[in-house]
Amino acid sequence: MTEPEIVVSANPADVSHAAAVRIGADLASAVQARGIAHWITTGGSTPGRIYEHLADEALRGTVPWDRVHLWWSDERWVPPDDILSNALACWDVLLRDVPVPVEQVHVMPIGDALGAGEGPAWVAARYAEALRAADLSLDAAGFPILDVALVGVGSDGHVFSVFPNSATWDDPAWVQAVPRPMHIAPHVERVTLHPGLLSAARRPIVVVHGTAKAAILGEIFGPERDIRRLPAQ
Ligand code: 6PG
Repeated sequence: MTEPEIVVSANPADVSHAAAVRIGADLASAVQARGIAHWITTGGSTPGRIYEHLADEALRGTVPWDRVHLWWSDERWVPPDDILSNALACWDVLLRDVPVPVEQVHVMPIGDALGAGEGPAWVAARYAEALRAADLSLDAAGFPILDVALVGVGSDGHVFSVFPNSATWDDPAWVQAVPRPMHIAPHVERVTLHPGLLSAARRPIVVVHGTAKAAILGEIFGPERDIRRLPAQ
């Protein structure tokens, strides 16, 4: 694995803008290279400002949105219109203004599962099927290669919904159900991609801001290497 490029900005607004510019450029180059761009986006508070910049006039026209497929790193076990839903901010902010065809917006089907009385494992299986149907190249570890993966980091060092000492690592399934975390809010079950999809992505982009993340960043870049305890490593 290559060492990451680290970009430090003076304030959260600059961080979000830099991430949006990078994502826009990477999506455009993926379309130029392969005719299509697959973007794994995320939840939490990180993507909102990034979506705003991408939807803004200055960047909106730089991305061929009709060739972009959107996927989610993880989703919370709540109805799609719940404020906690990771996909909701994307519908409300980005997709309101950029023309990604709806059949290329691959939300985790939690709403369908709730309607059908199914659980997180059912959603994980459906999402893995959708990823297989996208017919992506696989990396040496057998994970699909998507173009861009945007992730935030939790104050406990999690990425996606892969929490410290998560069982996700022990199961090679591309998409997995995650029990409700008790140590960190929101305390709801999740469905997450396997972290192998982050390693496989052509451009993983990790965005972190706020003093609440300072301590965990120190650990992530510290001398101890333990990806099970600190998945963001
Ligand atoms: C989730 C996320 C999660 C998030 C980090 C960072 O559903 O909670 O997808 O991995 O990205 O917890 O969250 P913030 O962006 O809110 O700091």
